Amino acid sequence: MKKINWGIIGCGGIAAKFTTGLASLEDATLIAVGSRTPGKAKAFAHTYNVSTSYDSYEDLLADDRVDVVYVATTHNFHYENVLQCLLAGKHVLCEKVFTINAKQAHHLQQVAIEKKLFLMEAMWTRFLPATKEIMKVIADGVIGEVKFMEADFSFKTAMDPEGRFYNRALAGGSLMDLGIYTVSYASMLFGRQPATIKTNACMTPTGVDERNTHIFEYPDGKAALLTSSFAYYARTQALIAGTKGHIEIPAFFHAQTFMVKAGDKTIHYELPFESNGMGYEAMEVMDCIRTGRLQSDIMSMDETVAIMETMDAIRKEYGLVYPEHMERIITS
Ligand SMILES: NC(=O)c1ccc[n+]([C@@H]2O[C@H](COP(=O)([O-])OP(=O)(O)OC[C@H]3O[C@@H](n4cnc5c(N)ncnc54)[C@H](OP(=O)(O)O)[C@@H]3O)[C@@H](O)[C@H]2O)c1
Repeated sequence: MKKINWGIIGCGGIAAKFTTGLASLEDATLIAVGSRTPGKAKAFAHTYNVSTSYDSYEDLLADDRVDVVYVATTHNFHYENVLQCLLAGKHVLCEKVFTINAKQAHHLQQVAIEKKLFLMEAMWTRFLPATKEIMKVIADGVIGEVKFMEADFSFKTAMDPEGRFYNRALAGGSLMDLGIYTVSYASMLFGRQPATIKTNACMTPTGVDERNTHIFEYPDGKAALLTSSFAYYARTQALIAGTKGHIEIPAFFHAQTFMVKAGDKTIHYELPFESNGMGYEAMEVMDCIRTGRLQSDIMSMDETVAIMETMDAIRKEYGLVYPEHMERIITS
């Protein structure tokens, strides 16, 4: 099998984790890394044994050996970075939150289609063995019809106005960073976006949300209760409630265990991931590229765009506004 050559742009925290995950895959090579911060890519390449480093994203994108780029920059840069990659003829896996708004996500989807390139949001949770097994348990009817779900993703971070969590200039905030996991999970379970949304948030002096709570209502009395915050520690658990039983998932965003209770039967599942779990999304990307698919069935671009529409609606309701230039569409 031909190895797929990866490049990474943005040499920060998640790039390091992704590199570790990718190293566990025999059919993938991380061939080059690029950073805008002088010397950072070189140091990264040295630490992770990558053969080539570039002090600009443009130079990495001009490297003909690179098949697919993992965009590992902060939220505010995703839209322009993915566009750069697509225009350079590269397939793309882009970190969450995919873009600032749905218009931008839709634009990138159109460009990818036009250029016949693969594009996917790096919602790694969906590709984990435990998440796939949960979806199978549900499809098998073990807990009956899913009527309700709860998901929380909260942990305490230090208040750093410059860091990616609190910095409005980096499109920070707990919705974009953590809440996206809960919103995406609800989308995965119900297979659609909510009919109505009730939401509120607690804003920081830096102008982003440090806590948010959403109630999503769906047809047929179905609902989701979603919370996220970086102001406190909480369970980071998901609950999926059905007409015949329920599923509890500790640390749902990086699930390795879950419990199913239906009638008087309780089953505990353990599905540990290989390495740090980040290789599974890369496996999906490579499978799609090899079989000529431009989007994943598990995390399709259609769904990413729809999720971004939900994110837009939430932000509108509680007034989370980012600088105008971040919301723009690039036309030339
Ligand atoms: N899947 C997961 O579990 C997971 C976990 C954490 C984060 N993430 C996502 O991964 C992405 C990056 O997060 P991270 O923790 O890796 O972020 P980070 O380390 O703070 O920054 C990543 C890169 O973004 C660029 N950057 C950061 N701050 C900048 C600034 N002030 N000005 C210009 N460029 C800046 C830098 O690129 P250069 O190297 O080019 O300078 C940096 O290396 C985000 O979308 C985040 O939501 C995902």
